[in-house]
Amino acid sequence: MQATIGSDILYAKQLLIAGELVAIPTETVYGLAANALDAESVANIFIAKDRPHFDPLIVHVKSVEAINDYVIDIPQWAEKLAAEFMPGPLTLVLKKKDCIPDIVTSGFATVGIRIPKHPLIHELLAKLDFPLAAPSANPFGYISPTSAQHVYDQLNGKIPYIIDGGVCSVGIESTIVGEVDEKPVILRLGGTAPEDIWKIIGKCEVRTNSSSNPINPGSLEHHYAPKHKLVFGEMNFSGYDVNEIGIISFQKEYADIPKEQQYILSPSADLREAAQKIFSAMRSLDGMDIKIIFAEHFPDVGLGRAINDRLKRASA
Ligand code: TXA
Ligand code: MG
Repeated sequence: MQATIGSDILYAKQLLIAGELVAIPTETVYGLAANALDAESVANIFIAKDRPHFDPLIVHVKSVEAINDYVIDIPQWAEKLAAEFMPGPLTLVLKKKDCIPDIVTSGFATVGIRIPKHPLIHELLAKLDFPLAAPSANPFGYISPTSAQHVYDQLNGKIPYIIDGGVCSVGIESTIVGEVDEKPVILRLGGTAPEDIWKIIGKCEVRTNSSSNPINPGSLEHHYAPKHKLVFGEMNFSGYDVNEIGIISFQKEYADIPKEQQYILSPSADLREAAQKIFSAMRSLDGMDIKIIFAEHFPDVGLGRAINDRLKRASA
């Protein structure tokens, strides 16, 4: 199956109604979408991504009001966060209604809900009478796509259509907030900074660690992995030829390393800009004829936390 890249929303709608998959742009990363209310369509996502069934999907809806159609109850903290950050890079994990099939949530009683901000996906959702289940549009465990071409490079042959919405403006997945013992907990660091969330609902725990975290099964230790070895936080190049080294740095250039092997994510020290570029930098370096990628430890504030989280997992 040859994938087409285009911007025909009506064609995308037809495919989705027919139970097919469509790759969609969002402001965070590209998603691989299917009708969230149809278990058979959703099953195709797991096949195309080679994704294990224990890893639940996020359901994308058109508006805050529409959330009520799919969840039993919206606690106060979630209502506040929805009012502040939706649409945007935030996913809320809430108790699901029966209309959400178990395959979407991997059997959990909760469902991850998000309202994406990208105009094309809004246009699409407005034309559909069902929400879209969509994980990031990459083979399981690999780097998330932030352009239509990234999706094509990895999933051509497995899906019919990719909607081209340009380069993702946030560049890193949504922040996920769920509930543990009736208190909000950040389950995945992402495009909404924890500090911004805490301003709205008070400080809450960040619990993103992994295999020991049954409430967030997708947060595996080894994820977002490039093919080249990635060293995180230690810029010690000894033992390697400079031509074998790729660099991901925040602001600074490394004098001895060839310039074209260096991705300096934000010379002006803007963590948003760095987050927007992190996955495409990893991907570009991965395509080069080098042996190893060295990535700096970014400042542990704002979106720097999510960047460090991804780099740590990519290095595991
Ligand atoms: O920005 C994003 O969130 C992107 C775009 C496409 O919307 N989507 C995305 O999906 O990153 P994915 O499948 O790569 O990550 C979804 C993760 C799961 O791995 C899991 O950790 C968490 O969301 N999740 C989903 N439903 C959950 C649930 N019911 N309980 C706990 N965690 C859940
Ligand atoms: Mg993913």
